[in-house]
Amino acid sequence: NIMILFGPPGAGKGTHGPKIEELLGIPQLSTGDMLRAAVAAKTEVGLKAAAVMKAGGLVSDEIVIGIIRDRISEPDCRFGFILDGFPRTLVQAQALDKMLAEEGACVTKVVELQVPDEVLEERICGRWIHKTSGRSYHVKYAPPKSMKKDGKGNPIPESMKDDETGDALMQRPDDTASALVKRLMGYHSETVPILDHYKPNGVVAVVNANQGMDGVWEEVLQSLKRGG
Ligand code: AP5
Ligand code: ZN
Repeated sequence: NIMILFGPPGAGKGTHGPKIEELLGIPQLSTGDMLRAAVAAKTEVGLKAAAVMKAGGLVSDEIVIGIIRDRISEPDCRFGFILDGFPRTLVQAQALDKMLAEEGACVTKVVELQVPDEVLEERICGRWIHKTSGRSYHVKYAPPKSMKKDGKGNPIPESMKDDETGDALMQRPDDTASALVKRLMGYHSETVPILDHYKPNGVVAVVNANQGMDGVWEEVLQSLKRGG
């Protein structure tokens, strides 16, 4: 089982990835989460990636391919894994195919979360995340239990806490309207062409991600059952 969760920023990859992980018992690998951890730990990779990420650009193929190569060779990946945010360029897709082919494996499913660009700003700008787990919340669509609002109806930042740990939630530095424009441009020019790379294999399943989260999850479940 080697799945790619595919879709633009705010499509719901990080929302549904953990649920697929629980369902199938294979790990979700988010290059965005891994890069954010590297930035927080100030590793060599993190220091290189921080500014590019904040501006909404793409980190170099070499760096992310290296990260994924190391990660998928770990024991918990031997029965498969769910990729979130990788591959993002054709070069990355080809590198992935090659790594898998060496093990006699291939990508078995690409779940494409389709959402029009117009709805993404509200999702991105309302998102709060729990840094250590990568869990995402939304002020309107998935508020944490602790959320309190001020007189104007805006969430009080100090009240934004993770449901499970009680840790403070944070907003991502790249979750601004201007960085989103850049991320979307990169998505359409560099990432969408990957779909044509996988379509001939009959592994791409389209999900309408422009609906409530429960509806999206129903369609994701359906897509896992059917071939192509
Ligand atoms: P990454 O972390 O991968 O960000 P992204 O692709 O921009 O995707 P997001 O995490 O923003 O969206 P998501 O689909 O996970 O949305 P979520 O489920 O949280 O990458 C970040 C950066 O790292 C990149 O810009 C790049 O610099 C670098 N990078 C990473 N991988 C790389 C690679 N392979 N190559 C090069 N560079 C790389 O949902 C969003 C919000 O909406 C949440 O608040 C959620 O609660 C809400 N929501 C979700 N679904 C719904 C719904 N159906 N209705 C209403 N609200 C919803
Ligand atoms: Zn994400």
